[in-house]
Amino acid sequence: MFPTFGLFSLALLAAKGAIGALLTDPTQLTTTTYDYVIVGAGTAGSVLAARLTEDALVRVLVVEAGRSNEGSDNANIRIPFNAPLASPGTSFDWNFTTVNQPSLNNEPEPYPRGKVLGGSSSTNYLVYTRGSADDYDRLAAIAGDDGWTWENLHPYILKHNSIVAPADGHDTTGEFDPAWHGNGPLLTSVAGYPAVIDPLVIGTTQEAAEFPYNVDGNSGNPLGISWVQSTIANGTRQSSAIAYLWPALNRPNLDVLIHTQATRLIQTGRTGATPIFRSVEFATGPSAPRFRATARREVILSAGSVGTPQLLQLSGIGNRETLSALGINTILNNADVGEHLQDHPFIPLQWEVNSNETFDQLFYDADLSAAALNQWNTNHTGPLSTNPVMNHIGFLRIPDDNAIWQENEDPSAGPNSPHYEIAFGNCFVTTSAQTVPSSGGFMTITPIVVSPSSRGYVRLSTSNPFDAPLIDPGFFSNDLDMAIMIEAVKASQRYVATSSWSNFIIGPYIDSANTTTPEDIIEYTRQRTATTRHPTGTAQVGKVVNGDLTVKDISGVRIVDASIFPHVPSAHTQAPTYIIAERAADLIKAAYH
Ligand SMILES: Cc1cc2nc3c(=O)[nH]c(=O)nc-3n(C[C@H](O)[C@H](O)[C@H](O)COP(=O)(O)OP(=O)(O)OC[C@H]3O[C@@H](n4cnc5c(N)ncnc54)[C@H](O)[C@@H]3O)c2cc1C
Ligand SMILES: *[C@@H]1O[C@H](CO)[C@@H](O)[C@H](O)[C@H]1NC(C)=O
Ligand SMILES: *[C@@H]1O[C@H](CO)[C@@H](O)[C@H](O)[C@H]1NC(C)=O
Ligand SMILES: *[C@@H]1O[C@H](CO)[C@@H](O)[C@H](O)[C@H]1NC(C)=O
Ligand SMILES: *[C@@H]1O[C@H](CO)[C@@H](O)[C@H](O)[C@H]1NC(C)=O
Ligand SMILES: *[C@@H]1O[C@H](CO)[C@@H](O)[C@H](O)[C@H]1NC(C)=O
Repeated sequence: MFPTFGLFSLALLAAKGAIGALLTDPTQLTTTTYDYVIVGAGTAGSVLAARLTEDALVRVLVVEAGRSNEGSDNANIRIPFNAPLASPGTSFDWNFTTVNQPSLNNEPEPYPRGKVLGGSSSTNYLVYTRGSADDYDRLAAIAGDDGWTWENLHPYILKHNSIVAPADGHDTTGEFDPAWHGNGPLLTSVAGYPAVIDPLVIGTTQEAAEFPYNVDGNSGNPLGISWVQSTIANGTRQSSAIAYLWPALNRPNLDVLIHTQATRLIQTGRTGATPIFRSVEFATGPSAPRFRATARREVILSAGSVGTPQLLQLSGIGNRETLSALGINTILNNADVGEHLQDHPFIPLQWEVNSNETFDQLFYDADLSAAALNQWNTNHTGPLSTNPVMNHIGFLRIPDDNAIWQENEDPSAGPNSPHYEIAFGNCFVTTSAQTVPSSGGFMTITPIVVSPSSRGYVRLSTSNPFDAPLIDPGFFSNDLDMAIMIEAVKASQRYVATSSWSNFIIGPYIDSANTTTPEDIIEYTRQRTATTRHPTGTAQVGKVVNGDLTVKDISGVRIVDASIFPHVPSAHTQAPTYIIAERAADLIKAAYH
C-alpha cells in the first residue's frame, strides 16, 4: 500500500481527478489514512458513508466483509417476492445459527444476517415500520439526550424516506398518510399486488373494535391494522446500498472495500487513562495478510448487532473474564459488551382456505411461476413485485384488565406501544422444520412478540475473527414473552373468527389445529418459533455507548447500527436503523465542525 500523506493526499488526489471507488482487495487502497473509517456497508454504514461524504473535504473508507449487491446472480435480492430465497446459506448471508435454545426443544435456529453491500437491508423481508413514538422517547430517556425523542427525530424520519406508487399503480388513497413521508432517498410503497385476503383483513377492522384500522402505522402510533409499507419501488427491492451507497460512490472522497473483514480495532494511543482506538485491521481471510487503515477523526462501527460486539471483543473491549479465557488481552473491561441481545420471536399459524387465488399456486404450478417471473422481468409488475409475507400488519396491545398485568410490569415502551404484532400472509408461511403442503390454499397469521423481556448475548467462540460467534437470542427465557405469545395466538384466532372470513376459512391447518389451550400454544411455540431477524441491544446506549453513540471510556470510536438500541423497537428494525443513522451522521458532522 502507498504511504499516507495526511491532509495532502486529498488535495493531490483531487488534483489528479481521482474518483472514489469500489475496491475488491485491500491491495487496491491508495492511502491508509482517512477522516473516517466505517466498518460495515450495511443499513446504517451506507447511510453514514453517503452523509459524511457530502462534505467534499472529508475522506471516508468503508470496509465490508461481504460482496457487492450487484451481479448477474442477484435476482433473489432484487425481486421482492424472492426475499426468502436470499438467506441463509447464500452468498449474501453470514449463515449464522444460534446456540441451542432451551425453550425451543433445545434446538438451534438459523440466524440470517446480510453479508453484502446494504447489509441486511439487501436481504430482509422489506417490511418498513418505524415503531412507536414511545420507543424513541424511551431511548431518549436512557440516552439522556432529547435529540432521540420521536418529536425531535421528525426531521430525520422525513429525511430518509419517500413513499412512491406501488407496482400495480392502484389508487392508494386512504392506505397511508402522506404527511408522514418526506422526500428522502429510501423509496417505499404500499402493496403492489392485490392479495385475495386483502378485503377480508380490512373487513374485520370494520366489524371488530379490538382490531381498528390505522391509516398509517408509521405515524408514531402503530396500534391497529394497516397496509404494510415495504422497501419496494418500481417493483424492485430498495436497500441502503441502492438508496445511499451507490449514488455516493460517484464522489472522489469515498472508498468502499468489499470482500474484506475487519479483524480488530487497534489502540493508537491514550489520553490520560482513556485508550484511543483509531486504526482498523482487516483481511480477506483467516490466513490472508492483515492490512490497516487509520481514521484522523473516528472509526465508526456499523457491523450490526452480531458483527459490532464481535469486533469489540476481538479488540479487547469486553468482559475481562471471558476474553482472558480466549487469550485476548483486555484493554477496556466492560461486561455489557455483547450481552443483552434482544430479538422478536414469531410463529406461523396457518389456515386452509377456500380459494385457489392465494400465492400458494405459484409454488405448486411451474407454469404459473414462470409466467410471474416473465412478467417481472418484462416490467417489474405482477405477484413477484410485492412483499412475500404480508400486505397488512397489525400492532396490538394486551388490554389493561388482562390477568397478565396483575403479576407483570408492562414491558412495552408506553401506552401507545404494542405488545405483539400479527401479520397476514396470503399463502402458507412457515419456519424451518415444517413440511410445506403441495396442494391447497392457505393463509397465515404470524404472531410476533414485539415487547420481549428475554435477552441473550453475542460472545466470541474463539479468538479467530473468522469463526462465527456464539449467538443466543434467549427466546422465551422470560415467561412473560410466552404469556404475550399466548394472547397473540388467541387474538389471531379471534381475527379469523369474525364474519368476514366465514366463507373463506376451511379450518386450521393440521399442525395449528390443536393450538387452543395455553399448553397447546406453548408446545406449538416450542416447535415453531423462529427469529424475526431483529437482533438489537448488544452495544446498547447507556451500557456500551454514550447518548451520542461514542463508545464509553475509550476515544475514537462510535457505534451506529441496530446494536445500540437498549430495547428492541416495537417494529421491524430497518426503519429505526435508518432513522438513528441519519441523526448520527449529523451528530458526527457537528462534532467536527
Ligand atoms: C433475513 C432478514 C429479514 C429481515 N426482515 C426485515 C423486515 O422485513 N423489515 C425490517 O425492518 N427489518 C428486517 N430485518 C432486520 C433489519 O434488516 C435489520 O435490523 C437492519 O438491517 C440492521 O441494520 P444494521 O446496520 O444494524 O446491520 P446490517 O444491515 O446487517 O449491516 C451490517 C454490515 O456489516 C458487515 N459486517 C459485519 N461484520 C463485519 C466485519 N467484521 N468487517 C466488515 N464488515 C462487517 C455485514 O456484512 C453487513 O453488511 C431482517 C433481517 C434479516 C437478516
Ligand atoms: C450454513 O450453515 C449450515 C448449518 O451450520 C451448514 O450445514 C451449511 O453448510 C452452511 N452453508 C453454507 C453455504 O455455508
Ligand atoms: C379456481 O376456482 C374457480 C372457482 O372454483 C374455478 O372456476 C377455476 O377454474 C379455478 N382455477 C384454477 C386455476 O384452478
Ligand atoms: C406488464 O406486463 C404484463 C404482461 O407480462 C402486462 O399484462 C401488463 O399490462 C404490463 N403492465 C404494465 C404496467 O406495463
Ligand atoms: C422500472 O422498471 C422498468 C422495467 O424493468 C424499467 O424499464 C424502468 O426504467 C424502471 N424505472 C425506474 C424509475 O427505475
Ligand atoms: C391433536 O390432538 C389430538 C388429540 O390430542 C391428537 O390425536 C392429534 O395428533 C393432534 N394433532 C396434531 C396435528 O398435533
